[in-house]
Amino acid sequence: MMRKQIAAANWKMNLTLQQADQLIDELLDIPHDLKDYQEAVFGVPFPFLFNIKNKLAGKKNSFVAAQNCSDKNAGAYTGEVSAAMLKSIAVDYVIIGHSERREYFNESHATLADKINICFETGLKPIFCCGEPLAIREAETQNSFVETQLTESLFHLNAQQLTGFVIAYEPIWAIGTGKTASNEQAQEMHAHIRSIMAGQYGAVVADSISILYGGSVKANNAKAIFCQPDVDGGLIGGASLVATEFAAIINSLK
Ligand code: PGA
Repeated sequence: MMRKQIAAANWKMNLTLQQADQLIDELLDIPHDLKDYQEAVFGVPFPFLFNIKNKLAGKKNSFVAAQNCSDKNAGAYTGEVSAAMLKSIAVDYVIIGHSERREYFNESHATLADKINICFETGLKPIFCCGEPLAIREAETQNSFVETQLTESLFHLNAQQLTGFVIAYEPIWAIGTGKTASNEQAQEMHAHIRSIMAGQYGAVVADSISILYGGSVKANNAKAIFCQPDVDGGLIGGASLVATEFAAIINSLK
């Protein structure tokens, strides 16, 4: 069975409800064909999730993702959004540990592990993000840096939980910079991530994990990145805000 190939949009903190509606309507008007093992996922701001979910109703293999959730179940945490709230409006996925959350909101390995646990308890699918900053890449220590991110936040999980899991590798130096990792750099890190998971959980589990690449993926480079053997799609920021771009990226999945 082919593991899932996923084009995931990450709208970040952009758009109004009206603009979001317009974007999704435009996108749905552009023919994009999802095979049984392909998915389109829309990581949209909390206030738009319900609406976008409804707009995707009946569309094959099309899902919504929250961009974050609380590491607490419920209670006096003003301003937080719980996994149970997301589940109650039929959210499918949650992006966990995006580098912007790690950097600007001080999310630690342990916090991310808690968030992933809550996702599993609630029946939400995490998209776990990892990736190194420029200084680490320049020091050529990216492999151990990413390994630590995986071991610290995922290795308490069992093989069943990690079967069909989704990881996004996003080198921070490639996010929003217009500088993508080369196809070879992406493939090399994705193979490394898969081998780390294989070492802990075995080849069958590792082969079932979808590893998405993120960082300046556009319509004109998506196909070359996605066709690498260990790249199973992408997590797309800037280009997901343009309907024609994102539709072309969906159509670039292998
Ligand atoms: P980008 O963002 O496509 O704008 O580089 C990717 C991401 O941060 O998920």
